[in-house]
Amino acid sequence: MNIFVTGGCGFIGSNFIRYWNSMFKEDKIINLDKLTYAGKLSNLSDIESNKNYEFIKGDISNSKLIENLLKKYNPTFIVNFAAESHVDRSIIYPEKFITTNILGTFKLLTNVNNYFSNLSKKKQDDFRFLHISTDEVYGSLKKEDAPFKETNKYFPNSPYSASKAGSDHIVRSFNKTYTLPTLISNCSNNYGPYQSIEKFIPLTIYNALNNKKIPIYGDGMQIRDWIYVKDHCEALKTILLKGKPGEVYNIGSSNEEKNINIAEKICNFLDFSIPLKRNKSYSEFIKFVKDRPGHDFRYAIDSNKIKKSLGWEAKTSISDGLELTIKWYLNNKEWVKESSGKSFIEWIEVQY
Ligand code: NAD
Ligand code: DAU
Repeated sequence: MNIFVTGGCGFIGSNFIRYWNSMFKEDKIINLDKLTYAGKLSNLSDIESNKNYEFIKGDISNSKLIENLLKKYNPTFIVNFAAESHVDRSIIYPEKFITTNILGTFKLLTNVNNYFSNLSKKKQDDFRFLHISTDEVYGSLKKEDAPFKETNKYFPNSPYSASKAGSDHIVRSFNKTYTLPTLISNCSNNYGPYQSIEKFIPLTIYNALNNKKIPIYGDGMQIRDWIYVKDHCEALKTILLKGKPGEVYNIGSSNEEKNINIAEKICNFLDFSIPLKRNKSYSEFIKFVKDRPGHDFRYAIDSNKIKKSLGWEAKTSISDGLELTIKWYLNNKEWVKESSGKSFIEWIEVQY
């Protein structure tokens, strides 16, 4: 079987490709990625020479390219990770988010739908288009609110979450209108190997190790439901194999943590494993800085639907996941060096 992945050189996409490759060795994986600042070929250097893996540099908005690739590779599954994904960047450059996340998804869907409509009945029955989305589309929770269910209304607050919400609606419409067998997953905050060091957990690890300021937006009391990326990949596999076309599945880990606690946990781990001189603690690098505009207070996921209907549940605790993640960053210094290059430095300079 052929599986066509978009955005596979990013954080979650590359973890997913590696995971799928380890589970289904016979499947051919086709990875289309534009290689923006967030996409790195080195994220998949361990499998790039695999004969069942094909990389194509390109944009999901390039209709001619997508049409030709679908014709050539005949995929049974398509998984759409391609997106602009960083909330902070969306505050500074919103247009890119509308272009890729809304228009790009629309163009991709149009070509996928043309491809789908020409498949045999048997191939149509097997075909799935899985759109990877986020819990941020549901907006922000108060402390006492129940976690997000699939039936919650959409209340996006950033240009990023609004663009993802827009893409989710377009995906839904292609299912309802053209009966394209789509699936949508809305997942909480991922962390783990290969995450761009602009994001909170890798940035905290990187800055602590380099004895730089660890920026905590506002009072650091915001809450996220952190999921280890491998658990997310396993959920996506489950949705592809068992999910019902037209359905939405929320994916979370019930690991709700305040930002400041996450930073403290990372510092404590480093204090123990790589102690600083004179009994100093890495937590001395923590600095409260100006808040993110429109900063969502809390995200939390109710994963009961995927648990009850598909039998998936997250396995990794936050302490195990953080340990695996910190060790990965410590053991992959070349990758970190590449990731802290030009685009990262430029980003840090423009950050509000
Ligand atoms: P990422 O920014 O690390 O990777 C995005 C990838 O998409 C990059 O490789 C980039 O080059 C590629 N890309 C961007 N625009 C493209 C285009 N027009 N055509 C082709 N490729 C393009 O993002 P991530 O954290 O891996 O997130 C992947 C997906 O999962 C996104 O859709 C995101 O919204 C969603 N998501 C992320 C999280 C999270 O915590 N990171 C949680 C839930 C959902
Ligand atoms: O909830 C899922 C979403 O999680 C995904 O859809 C996004 O693609 C992904 O980037 C992530 O969004 P967040 O904005 O929650 O992640 P980020 O790592 O940017 O920030 C996590 C929290 O930490 C958030 O409350 C902001 C805060 N933060 C972040 C940075 C980069 C800080 O306090 N300091 C920082 O320097």
